[in-house]
Amino acid sequence: MMHQDVKKILVSLDEIVKRSEELGKEIKEDYESRNEIPLVVGLLKGSVPFLAELVKHIDMDIIYEFMDVSSYEGTESVGKIKVNLDLQTPVQGKPVLLVEDIIDTGRTIEEVKKLILEKGASSVKVVSLLDKPERRVVDVKADFVGFVVPNEFVIGYGLDYNQKYRNLPFIGVLKDECYQ
Ligand code: IMP
Ligand code: MG
Repeated sequence: MMHQDVKKILVSLDEIVKRSEELGKEIKEDYESRNEIPLVVGLLKGSVPFLAELVKHIDMDIIYEFMDVSSYEGTESVGKIKVNLDLQTPVQGKPVLLVEDIIDTGRTIEEVKKLILEKGASSVKVVSLLDKPERRVVDVKADFVGFVVPNEFVIGYGLDYNQKYRNLPFIGVLKDECYQ
């Protein structure tokens, strides 16, 4: 189960599955209380394993979609994002639930929320597998959080280092010698 490049495991697969069940119930109750069904939107590629687990535990007739965004390089446009893959469904008037792997500085989720609200969504809520609050630079928070993690670079369960390690079935910390 352990991988040779991993220093330690922070969150095991069992813990992720159990937490996803809890979050799925919380999300269902939250939307049901307003008589709403969320349009679930995963951010590629990091959210894929978490979204796949989570949706099994949201006991409602939801549909899910994906969006791919990246931040522009360079200092001038810090905080602005580029849409590589846009939504296939109109979000006008719909309650959107964004699924993210981790909220770090918070810039990505802030910009995506803004974008979806500009498209006319009735609300945008965020569920994130991980939250790294120590790194936050913009005032944004997830409505539903799986686990709070310390200020360390984490990989696995969708999270990558140079596109690698997304398929690991746990959240772990990379060994120092694995960074170039
Ligand atoms: P933010 O815009 O700074 O909140 O960054 C969010 C994105 O940065 C996430 O969706 C991840 O793709 C990436 N990221 C932030 N921290 C980590 C980490 O510890 N490991 C892997 N990717 C991370
Ligand atoms: Mg990401």
